[in-house]
Amino acid sequence: MHCVRKVTDDLYWVGANDKRLNLFENIHPIPRGTSYNSYLLMDEQTVLFDTADWSVCRQFLDNIEYVLDGKKLDYMVINHMEPDHGASIEEILLRYPDVKIICSVKAADFMRQFRFHTDNVETVKEGDVKSFGKHQVTFVMAPMVHWPEAMVSFDTTNGVLFAADAFGSFGSLDGKLFADEVNFDRDWLDDARRYYTNIVGKFGANVQNLLKKAAGLDIKYICPLHGPVWRQDFDYILDKYNKWSTYTPEEKGVMIAYASMYGNTEAAANILATKLCEKGIANVALYDVSCTHVSYLIAEAFKYSHLALFSVTYNLNVFPVMANFLEDMAALNLQNRTVATVCNGTWAPQAGPKMIEAVSKMKNTTLLNEGLTVASSLNEDTYAQLEQLADTIAESLQ
Ligand code: FEO
Repeated sequence: MHCVRKVTDDLYWVGANDKRLNLFENIHPIPRGTSYNSYLLMDEQTVLFDTADWSVCRQFLDNIEYVLDGKKLDYMVINHMEPDHGASIEEILLRYPDVKIICSVKAADFMRQFRFHTDNVETVKEGDVKSFGKHQVTFVMAPMVHWPEAMVSFDTTNGVLFAADAFGSFGSLDGKLFADEVNFDRDWLDDARRYYTNIVGKFGANVQNLLKKAAGLDIKYICPLHGPVWRQDFDYILDKYNKWSTYTPEEKGVMIAYASMYGNTEAAANILATKLCEKGIANVALYDVSCTHVSYLIAEAFKYSHLALFSVTYNLNVFPVMANFLEDMAALNLQNRTVATVCNGTWAPQAGPKMIEAVSKMKNTTLLNEGLTVASSLNEDTYAQLEQLADTIAESLQ
């Protein structure tokens, strides 16, 4: 049975939600599920904007059949070929064999690589315009947001931007299609940040290019491929995207992430958090990297201005989960942060120099200390050094 929503008088959301999937891209936990958004425009020519993941294909097909109501499907615009959106292309081709695909040249290549069987493809390039009757749609290339073939489509007739992966979020919609139907800041922002930073975070410069192009458009609706549709409060979400894509911290505050084996490093991290709060720095978030998925750590690292990283030494190196976090920060291009490090080791405490080496490679990063080294557990001297570190962090937050 169909489950659709109207976006405008002749544009329908025909996507679907998946709450069964545990790991997005088989790596990022999604306890709130995800939506796969697809949109069907009922103009003189009917146009489907992107398809959906294979897991929701049945619902997706029911939705299309209902909205078409016996009309044929004329066009399918593929803004993004990643299989969470492109997987159902072949099924659409089987059911609507006359449908013509509109996509970038690179997306057509990818379609062949994924072995979709169609010759009915019209490739478009930057600025090409297509009329479907009442609606005129302009195609805008958006390479590396988040794959190289990506483009966005802008309906100049009603101001709808089909934004591909941009402006997306983890989380299933649960009936609420529009961002103004939910308390986005309270209930969605954390997942939107985690989605952006982990999926598109590496490609900030490309996102900035797209935002510059979008600034010239009279946008009334932003229709992403995941998460809620935006039809108001554009300044709010654009501000977030500007900060995330320029690696500008959203908040002055301290993320403390610790890797501890027997609790001594954890104790030191807790003492730093306590000292900071005593000094009036209450915007502190404390994470045990061993029991926090790295996608959450990355999102928090993008959020806060200051990072305090604590690691025990393991195999003469950084503790593996902290090493993974550091690697991910580098892979996702995190920069413009102020960082302090604290290392623990009972003998040969090597985690400190290795953390400093990793952090030094991040662009525009300020190291607040030479690395504080704890021998097994805090003593009076290292406790005093930790207090001094809290002073240094507090000063740098002024
Ligand atoms: Fe949801 Fe890059 O795909």
